Amino acid sequence: MIVCVCRRISDRLIAQCARQGMSFDTIQLELGVATQCGKCEGCARGVWQECAPSAPVAHLHTAHPPAPSHPAPANRT
Ligand code: FES
Repeated sequence: MIVCVCRRISDRLIAQCARQGMSFDTIQLELGVATQCGKCEGCARGVWQECAPSAPVAHLHTAHPPAPSHPAPANRT
């Protein structure tokens, strides 16, 4: 999807640059995104924030393991 109509910059390109560790300022300088009319800046920054390496990631570990969904069978005597 084109994010910046003025410079024809796609969300994929912004995401690719963000994943490579480029700051938003550098992306602006290199690609020219959000440097003409500026209407795309919010969307472009949103794409960049989602894909930047410093963006939070999902927790891979939990402090407490989840409770079993089914109780263990009772011992039959
Ligand atoms: S749409 Fe990006 S600067 Fe105009």
